[in-house]
Amino acid sequence: MNDKQPHAVSADEWDELHFPRPEENDFDRVVERAISRRGFLGGALVFGSGAAAMGAGLLGGVSTRALAAEPSFAFTPVKAFTDGTVHVPDGYEWKVLARWGDSYFDGVDPFDAGKGVTLAASDKVFGENTDGMETFVHDGRQLLAVNHEYVNTKVNLPQNEGGKAQSADDVRKLQNLQGVSVIEIAEGSDGWAIVKNSPYNRRIHHNTPMKISGPAAGHRLLQTDADASGTASLGTFNNCGSGKTPWGTYLTCEENFNSYFGSTASSHDQLPAEVQQGYKRYGVGTETRYGYEKFDPRFDTSKNPNEPHRAGWIVEIDPTDPASTPVKRTALGRFKHENAEVVLAADGRVVVYMGDDERGEFLYKFVSNGTYTPGGPTEGLLDDGTLFVAKFNDDQTGEWVALTPETTGMERAEMLIFARMAASKVGATTMDRPEWVSANPLAVEAYCCLTNNKNRGKKTNAGGDDTPVGGPNPRAANNYGQIVRWYPNGEDHGASAFKWDLYVMAGNPTVHKDAYAGSQNINAGNLFNSPDGMAFDTKGMVWIQTDGDDSNEGDYAGMGNNQMLVGDPRTGEIVRFMTGPNGSEVTGLCWSADNRTMFVGIQHPGGAWPDGGGALPRSSIVAIKRSDNAAIG
Ligand code: FEO
Ligand code: CA
Ligand code: CA
Repeated sequence: MNDKQPHAVSADEWDELHFPRPEENDFDRVVERAISRRGFLGGALVFGSGAAAMGAGLLGGVSTRALAAEPSFAFTPVKAFTDGTVHVPDGYEWKVLARWGDSYFDGVDPFDAGKGVTLAASDKVFGENTDGMETFVHDGRQLLAVNHEYVNTKVNLPQNEGGKAQSADDVRKLQNLQGVSVIEIAEGSDGWAIVKNSPYNRRIHHNTPMKISGPAAGHRLLQTDADASGTASLGTFNNCGSGKTPWGTYLTCEENFNSYFGSTASSHDQLPAEVQQGYKRYGVGTETRYGYEKFDPRFDTSKNPNEPHRAGWIVEIDPTDPASTPVKRTALGRFKHENAEVVLAADGRVVVYMGDDERGEFLYKFVSNGTYTPGGPTEGLLDDGTLFVAKFNDDQTGEWVALTPETTGMERAEMLIFARMAASKVGATTMDRPEWVSANPLAVEAYCCLTNNKNRGKKTNAGGDDTPVGGPNPRAANNYGQIVRWYPNGEDHGASAFKWDLYVMAGNPTVHKDAYAGSQNINAGNLFNSPDGMAFDTKGMVWIQTDGDDSNEGDYAGMGNNQMLVGDPRTGEIVRFMTGPNGSEVTGLCWSADNRTMFVGIQHPGGAWPDGGGALPRSSIVAIKRSDNAAIG
């Protein structure tokens, strides 16, 4: 499926396609035997052979009300669409706020529907592939910080054969169109728009100066010829989900950073063993999607082997200061970061929940040593603390295991740079690709989308850890995904133990009668697969976005395009609120200050959305409102 269409492959999909794990190993063979003995569902049989039986224990949040014929939401759910536009319920309206190529300043080369963005304009416009985003209010203005996760080279370099970068200028253009935007937005008589020439408008891209802070800053594995200090890197990469601190900064999360670093040598054999081991666990290969390494030596690991260690972090950005230097917070660990959900422990310590989105990788949380007080100092809070990783037990309890030199046998900085290896050493639970985490503002509970994992019960993760069927990952060959929820002990996000259940298991009851039918809160009217983006609104409803198979066929029949649903955590009820254009992923969600507008991202749309005709497809943010202008979450 790769590269057939310019828009066809997401960053997650590309990484999966190009860094396949070993086809078979001893673990595979053990699992194959187990499955053949116990039937297709493998370990899921522990919980019963059908979805109904599974619901009795694991699916704690589903009450009889969830099965009621009449949804309790104040709108009629939308059906599954397969067309090239956005659909919202009757009584709601949508309008594009920003599209790839929209200018932030006067005097910038205009977007060309056939050629896209010029090099000169590429660091002054809305980048491609919008993802996580957050709104901020500053001096009475509304600021939006938004990620541009990756580029489709065929879209951005349409004149080049195969969309391949052929020069340093091509590479620079691709680099400029990714990263983060900070823009001022305002609502006028014609709806929401970017405030052109605002002093807050800013592009942060692959060459923007960054500071590296925290326990790993300055470590030899972060030092390069250009930066012997190991504290000053350039650029933020594959910015996926987002987070927002209580003190008003933006967190951008570096996910599939590995795909930017290649080698002009044919292998990594000449590199130190620890570097090679890290590359293997994190999927740094010699070939890349973008070809940066051919024209920009910083990305050539045969010349700069430590450069990939300077990516894969959570980066903090002050959206209110366009001259500020973004900071990479090493205390939060290096992995393929999805998002960063920030909450406070009962005593005011800062807790950051984070998923590592790869098959069989882990769920983490950081807990600061210091406490947050409104208006108090915040600078050290994300540099000083402990990183934990989740261990889920089959009895629906779990614990956060601290990653320390004592528990991992690793030196502190190395433990953070190679957090995956540290987590493997303490026996963390291998998960079905942890995507966004979101915490309920009205209850002490948090949720994580486990998007899918075709290898569950079949292959180890990249570190060789088993991925047994069970716990919060109860289905082998899990192509539908589920959402796990945990309740910290003592109603304190700082607690080291929790109880858990599954909020929903996606599935298709019109095709399957077993666990692949999904949980009881899945029905013909709300079919979806691959939950990914997720955010709670102020009323405690959870909005779920999907990045899955939109073929609408076979196992996915009736699911239509990728979509956004909303769920009631108290009842388990889930209804479809919006569908995206075909080919797209719906990702990124935040609200205006008055909650009357919801901003939703449309990534890698198909066709020529939203401009039509022979135009290039343009990733966009849409603003959704109620027609009566009432609050929307
Ligand atoms: Fe960028 Fe895992 O999504
Ligand atoms: Ca995602
Ligand atoms: Ca995804």
